Amino acid sequence: MRILITAGPTREHLDPVRFLSNRSTGKMGFAIAQCAAARGHEVVLVAGPVALASPPGVRRVDVVSACDMLAAVEEHLPACEALVMCAAVADWRPRQASAVKLKKRAMAPVLELEANPDILATIRGRKENRIFVGFAAETGDPLPEGRRKLTEKGLDLLVANDVSRQDSGFAVDFNCVTLLPIEGPEQQLPLLPKLKVAERIVAWVEQALAARPQKETQK
Ligand code: CTP
Repeated sequence: MRILITAGPTREHLDPVRFLSNRSTGKMGFAIAQCAAARGHEVVLVAGPVALASPPGVRRVDVVSACDMLAAVEEHLPACEALVMCAAVADWRPRQASAVKLKKRAMAPVLELEANPDILATIRGRKENRIFVGFAAETGDPLPEGRRKLTEKGLDLLVANDVSRQDSGFAVDFNCVTLLPIEGPEQQLPLLPKLKVAERIVAWVEQALAARPQKETQK
């Protein structure tokens, strides 16, 4: 299959040295890309700013902001049969970004923000018979929000995880997730290395693609 994977955070610059972002390090998305490439799939990995080496055999597209990530996803989606939105996309960006460093005395104490596009919502109408997988990183029980995002974002599978745990989630090599498919039973996985979680997700996508109604997706 040809699979498009997003990973890492996005950065929303206020000026060349300051930005809004989040704690994502890209490890989960890179593990999915590594696993998919190792299984012989064609992988396009759209990566936010992360300190990780590209897995072998992966075509990597580096982006900075949510708007950049949306453009890269829109460019590569048509040639792909599956999309895994693992990136922690920043929901807001500063209303104004300065091309030069802002001086402290020239800055207002309140930052004006505007909403970033929701990438999944924007491309939803172009899904056709592609498989779409999303993630929900929550503090506390991730299942209610995970189930809401599964249906509201029009996904085939939602991977829910609790990022308030110290031993799983952001910036560590382990993750504890529940797979919430749109059809079929939910699967709570034990605490596993991210590469093992990645294997379960890639296997799920392979099976979903094999089971989907046959139709040409590529234009
Ligand atoms: N996502 C997206 N575009 C955004 C924000 C999120 O496509 N602007 C995707 C993420 O990559 C993920 C899924 O939507 O696959 C859920 O992301 P999450 O941040 O958990 O949800 P939000 O819709 O941002 O909701 P909230 O921040 O209120 O929890």
